[in-house]
Amino acid sequence: MRIILSRSTKEAIDTVSTIMVDRISSRPNMTLGLATGKTMEPVYEDFIAKAREQSLKMDKNFFFMLDEYVGIEEDHPSSFKSYILKRLIKPLDLHESQFAFPPTKLDGDHYETLIKEGGGIDLQLLGIGVNGHIGFNEPGSSINSRTRIVNLTDATKKSNQEHFGSEAMPNQALSMGIGSIMDGKELVMLATGKSKADAIKYLFNHHDDESCPATFLKSHPHFSLFLDPESASKISLKI
Ligand code: F6R
Repeated sequence: MRIILSRSTKEAIDTVSTIMVDRISSRPNMTLGLATGKTMEPVYEDFIAKAREQSLKMDKNFFFMLDEYVGIEEDHPSSFKSYILKRLIKPLDLHESQFAFPPTKLDGDHYETLIKEGGGIDLQLLGIGVNGHIGFNEPGSSINSRTRIVNLTDATKKSNQEHFGSEAMPNQALSMGIGSIMDGKELVMLATGKSKADAIKYLFNHHDDESCPATFLKSHPHFSLFLDPESASKISLKI
């Protein structure tokens, strides 16, 4: 695992969006795996600005979404499909056909096949949940797990309820598994803010621990963890 501690949240975001631009510039037909969530919002904003500035060509890229809620329609304003339409597809004038969305009405094997047929994922972006989840692989998920329906924990529902207002949060999601994520050629995780400090401390100090699924990523040969000062505030790292 490579850990990169930035001097500020802005710098951490800039570093991750720069990696996206660099990888796409050097391999225009590469595939990206995309996470959603609040952490990624400024990354996509920054990426869009850079992509426009550099007239980045993206017509040959293909994107795989990491997860999706089960039990809401895909055009629900809080679906991850709506998230990425608003934050990447529309602003960059990309085509929806360049994106694969976890098919919540089918089983996970369909998505695994799609990823395989697409040549696998070259760069997988990841956030981390307050309980150490990746995608929606909640504590207890196995390292060999593949795309499947998962039950969301109370911690995750509490943290994501704000996106649903007074409406009840879905109880389930279709998520790429840890095994599916580990198949990615390069994994880039970003953690920002104080709320992630405990998960990052746990990740830093433990290996292959089902109670914090992110710990499995440490055995991936190309896993980089990008931290801002707040998310790194409970571990001893110096710039
Ligand atoms: C969603 C996903 C999740 C989030 C995590 C952190 O696609 O992959 O693992 O990355 O729940 O969410 P935020 O960034 O909202 O704290």
